[in-house]
Amino acid sequence: MKLSAFCSYAAVSFASLVSAYPGMGGGMGEFHHAAKETRQETKQLIGDLKTLKDSQLTTVGKDIKAIITNQQNALSSVIDTGAPAGTPDSAACKADLCCIWKWISYDMTARFNGSSGRCTKFARAAVRLGFHDSGAWSTSSSYGGADGSILLTDEIDRVENNGLEFIAEQMKTWYNKYNKYGVSMADLIQMGANIATVVCPLGPRIRSFVGRKDNPKAAPTGLLPSPVDSADKIIKLFQAKTIDATDLIALVGAHTTSQQHFFDTTRDGDPQDTTPGVWDVHFYSETVNDTPPRVIKFPSDIALSKDSRTSGAWQGFINGQGRWNSDWSKAYTRLSLLGVKNINDLKECTKVLPAARTTFVNQDQVLLDRWLQGEFDQLNNMVDDAIMLTGVITGKGANQTEET
Ligand code: HEM
Repeated sequence: MKLSAFCSYAAVSFASLVSAYPGMGGGMGEFHHAAKETRQETKQLIGDLKTLKDSQLTTVGKDIKAIITNQQNALSSVIDTGAPAGTPDSAACKADLCCIWKWISYDMTARFNGSSGRCTKFARAAVRLGFHDSGAWSTSSSYGGADGSILLTDEIDRVENNGLEFIAEQMKTWYNKYNKYGVSMADLIQMGANIATVVCPLGPRIRSFVGRKDNPKAAPTGLLPSPVDSADKIIKLFQAKTIDATDLIALVGAHTTSQQHFFDTTRDGDPQDTTPGVWDVHFYSETVNDTPPRVIKFPSDIALSKDSRTSGAWQGFINGQGRWNSDWSKAYTRLSLLGVKNINDLKECTKVLPAARTTFVNQDQVLLDRWLQGEFDQLNNMVDDAIMLTGVITGKGANQTEET
């Protein structure tokens, strides 16, 4: 799609762009505050961590236990910037557990990063896919969770998975390419979520573990939320997954990146805050405040922002990018391990993740702002693909844009 000239927008208000993304805010200061915070909820153990004694835990087992009980940070800057040990078929690569994940990280990063610097619809859907595989589990389920079943069975056809079809196809392509090297679908999906998160500008770089086992049995039904559920229903649904109210609010912040397609099909592509494809905290403030007409709000998010059990956490993330990233990382570590029975045997491959981007400026914010006001429907797919908008709109004014 080529659009006609819109030169007047060359004179962008740069100052407003810079102020749009203040970066990580209080960063580590916020983290220390969050880490010291005493929560009402008791952090439950999951999987084999419930029964293993501390003396039986591996280094990874100990770290995961500390992360999910809020004793330890789940962020990491440990990075391997070198080339992989060898090509996937080489003996050198086979001898290095994380080598194959480095190749996978290259493939995923390329798919998840848009030319605008924002993350693409593939990245956002990968985060949602991670939730929909692992979240189909509760303490009363003997199966389900982060087991790859969403893509190994017909689970993907369930109505709550509408909109995940294209990431499902992409993930299966990667699975077909990498399964012969011992990569499970369950790990591929969860590594996909963690790589997507850090590819999104301002997104956290989460410690990432592999070794989950696949299950070719569809997960129990009725365990994923609906956007018209009450806050009470969602809080209880997540409690039954061992996820407390604060972690729930941290996790739902992923909607900051979102563009919905199926909640309201008459508003295909509308975002849930003014900065789709950016891992900022605008979603929290914009859910409770007035926003441009194109921003769409789920009744469930509005309800969670107001409920007395969750409103405090919601408010706490509004000006807390560092705090949110820290809390997200711990909460997602837990979520990504629901239903996993061999947590103590997992291995760590965090080093293959790309570097986090702690500051970001949307170079095309002036066009995004007009799109958010309801102009330029022609841009919907480009925004979804995180394509840089500057330069594609040409013409003398808003009413003269046209396809050529
Ligand atoms: C708590 C209740 C939740 C409800 C009711 C809910 C519901 C939804 C719905 C209806 C969509 C739009 C799908 C579409 O129409 O295309 C969506 C998008 C999304 N959700 Fe959630 N969700 C919830 C929690 C979560 C959590 C916990 C995560 C991550 C851990 C998450 C991650 C995402 C992401 C990343 C998107 C954007 C996908 C895209 O842009 O393609 N959601 N969610």
